[in-house]
Amino acid sequence: MARRTKIYEGTAKILYEGPEPGTIVQHFKDDTTAFNAEKKAVIEGKGVLNNRLSEFFMTGLNNIGVPTHFIKRLNMREQLIRQAEIIPLEIVVRNYAAGDLSTRLGIDEGMQLPRPIVEYHYKNNDLGDPLVTEEHIAAFGWAGQQDMEDILSLSLRVNDFMSGVMMAVGIRLVDFKIEVGRIYEGDFQRLIVADEISPDSCRLWDIETGQKLDKDVFRRDLGSLTDAYTEVARRLGVMPKTS
Ligand code: C5P
Repeated sequence: MARRTKIYEGTAKILYEGPEPGTIVQHFKDDTTAFNAEKKAVIEGKGVLNNRLSEFFMTGLNNIGVPTHFIKRLNMREQLIRQAEIIPLEIVVRNYAAGDLSTRLGIDEGMQLPRPIVEYHYKNNDLGDPLVTEEHIAAFGWAGQQDMEDILSLSLRVNDFMSGVMMAVGIRLVDFKIEVGRIYEGDFQRLIVADEISPDSCRLWDIETGQKLDKDVFRRDLGSLTDAYTEVARRLGVMPKTS
């Protein structure tokens, strides 16, 4: 078997050179970390679930005209994606207070926010992805004025889509993170949603019981992460085949 060229390996994913120029194979691992890698574990089956869930969300976004890097799923753990120049920002959209927002501003977890709040974090693990303002982004040239308008519009469209899809299966979308990349088409540059959208990057609460169905289960030792992600996949009707 031919050896593939690894482009990048992170905690949860490996990227390999794709079969065509401009494509990449994204491989989902079972490894997980929290609190800036202070807490680590291997959660059997997580990569398979996230590959399937990210495919589901990205396909839905592509179908409603929100461009993403997703091309097609290749197998249980891998998908073919478009190569994009990643903007070094983690874009967080919040509908309810939780996590870092509750800690930073002393707002009770679960409080509905008056409107969705979009936050930008500088993507840098060594620094713990610090919160930055548009002033930092402009001054350091991470994204231009037009990029910021496009990022805001993409983020809010992803929020509306994801909130609706999750609401339909009795799950509240509390918050999520996306990454955005640039692709070039002739003389034009376009921004697309990249990375992954999965319970690793969203907070998802059961509407009736408040049960957490996302990575907080691991962060806070609330039970089985695989069971939580499986429940999300089951409700969405996208359970990976086991054979
Ligand atoms: O920790 P914080 O409250 O800022 O997280 C907001 C949302 O972004 C959560 O859904 C979390 O899972 C996600 N996130 C992420 N990757 C990070 C930081 C946050 O997916 N590095």
